[in-house]
Amino acid sequence: MIVAIDGPAGAGKSTVAQRVARELGFQLIDTGAMFRAVAWKALDLGVDVGDGEGLGEVARSLEFGFAFEAGRNVARCNGEVLGDEIRTQRVSEVASRVSAHPSVRQALLEAQRRMGEASSSVLEGRDIGTVVFPDAEVKVFLTASSTQRAERRAAQLIERGEQADVGRIRDEIEARDARDEEREHAPLKQAADAVAIDTTSMGVDDVVSAIVGRARQV
Ligand code: DC
Repeated sequence: MIVAIDGPAGAGKSTVAQRVARELGFQLIDTGAMFRAVAWKALDLGVDVGDGEGLGEVARSLEFGFAFEAGRNVARCNGEVLGDEIRTQRVSEVASRVSAHPSVRQALLEAQRRMGEASSSVLEGRDIGTVVFPDAEVKVFLTASSTQRAERRAAQLIERGEQADVGRIRDEIEARDARDEEREHAPLKQAADAVAIDTTSMGVDDVVSAIVGRARQV
């Protein structure tokens, strides 16, 4: 079974997807982490964000794995654990730019389908219900106001000891959403048959039980 959880940055996808996957006993494929890993590796290698061919090569050279360890979803790339180094503002921005290249999307799409076909999975991202698994049994599109999303991101950054200015983060989130929505290939979009859940004033428990409930009815 595939549970697709899509939506813009900061809508609560990661928290919700972790809990849903744990409750259902499914694998959790954090597709944003895969785009972030490509961005991080490209920055490390000095590959330009405009070099589609070079970025595609980087994406194809990465082998991904996801597994729950001590209750937390751990992402691995070429055997190494991906940590907070892929969660900085810089990597977020570069990931959004890198993800516009069809060469990168194609390489990651293949990896996402391979992993999702191997076992029941929750996938969180932007184009899971529309492109990666259009036949997913459960499709959810999470949204929240941009102020609420910026406040959540700020709280996450502060927790990691980074500086956070909510106004600036909101501007950055809005710019990133616009880029993700306006790109030509697999843009951020709600699938016609996805259920939209606005998490602005909903608790995590309610969102999780709504999704788990749907999955159990399938
Ligand atoms: O979910 P996230 O913030 O970790 O994602 C980082 C970037 O990766 C996001 O700005 C757009 C891109 N992305 C994508 O294009 N498609 C996905 N399925 C997941 C993420």
